[in-house]
Amino acid sequence: MRIETIAARAGAELDPVTGSVAPPIHLSTTFDHGPASEDPHGYHYIRDANPTQTRLETALAALEGGEAALAWSSGMAAGAAYLQALPPGSHVVFPDDMYYGYRVVAHEFFKQWGLSATTVDMADLDNVRAALTPATRLVWAESPSNPLLRIVDLAAVAELAHAAGAELLVDGTFATPILQQPLALGADVVMHSSTKYLGGHSDVQGGALILKRRGPTAERLLLIRQNLGAVASPFNSWLVLRGLRTLACRVERQSANAHALATALAGHPRLSAVHYPGLPTTPLHEVARRQMRLFGGMLSIQVRGGREAALAVCSRVRLFLNATSLGGTESLIEHRASSEGPGSTTPEDLLRISVGLEHPQDLIDDLMQALTA
Ligand SMILES: Cc1ncc(COP(=O)(O)O)c(C=O)c1O
Repeated sequence: MRIETIAARAGAELDPVTGSVAPPIHLSTTFDHGPASEDPHGYHYIRDANPTQTRLETALAALEGGEAALAWSSGMAAGAAYLQALPPGSHVVFPDDMYYGYRVVAHEFFKQWGLSATTVDMADLDNVRAALTPATRLVWAESPSNPLLRIVDLAAVAELAHAAGAELLVDGTFATPILQQPLALGADVVMHSSTKYLGGHSDVQGGALILKRRGPTAERLLLIRQNLGAVASPFNSWLVLRGLRTLACRVERQSANAHALATALAGHPRLSAVHYPGLPTTPLHEVARRQMRLFGGMLSIQVRGGREAALAVCSRVRLFLNATSLGGTESLIEHRASSEGPGSTTPEDLLRISVGLEHPQDLIDDLMQALTA
């Protein structure tokens, strides 16, 4: 079945008790069991699993074409769990542009967990090749990346990782399964912050890991979730599941809007750069064209005049909201270096833009007046 049909219907089986079309939310923390803790209904305690979370996982596995999916309380919990599942002594290769939270995890926790990391610019595959060691267990890619919208050739990096005995994890948050299918390109696992496009309405936090194969890693991840406790609540699972129903429509419109905005901004005299994978001038644009259906709803711009000039643009927008996060129906703008804080590697003149569902001309008009005022 096609991705739009999967998004609209996966995990949407009728409730067998009532026939309800919308899925029920099972808030129960505990489930009827036998005298020796036998589970006749398949559920035991909310931290182990709950029926609403299971529905969401069924849908996520179908959307990404994986054998197993695990929902988490946040994208950070999902990514951190995958790192915690690595054996001590493992080496990880990270991209130099990635969601900064995982850089913080590497900096603050890797030593304690017995892990090490190398960070490289993955645009040049030789850098990836050179970073791989006999201890490398995981290559972590983010494409498009946050906040510079860098593209990684996922099929090529999967091949390099596998040849070195490592796995490839792809943070697919910006692309969503509608635009890019990392498992089909050779990745072993896709990670999402469901807080973004999957939820889609800036009202739910969640994370997801979708694994190509069911196996020991999936078992280990389940053990981590059950015992360390970063489960998705039933209500949050339900909200993400509800978000999936409109994912294809939203992402297509957001991609079209972002493409129109990036095209209108390209070459603006007040900007030194517009980062959008759909612009032919963007590095690895041809790779993006090959591995993505559309180019997504995220872009970033660099404002001539540095930090103060960038902050001035943020203070002049009328329609865009100054807020962090992304993937909701409303357009957001953010000075990333300020948001990331100390240790940020993001250029001080950079503004990240999450494009919503407003009319593209209204968005263009707003940014043009903010840039020229
Ligand atoms: C690309 C990407 N990955 C992961 C995360 C972390 O997700 P969460 O905020 O749900 O923990 C974010 C959050 O902004 C993100 O942008």
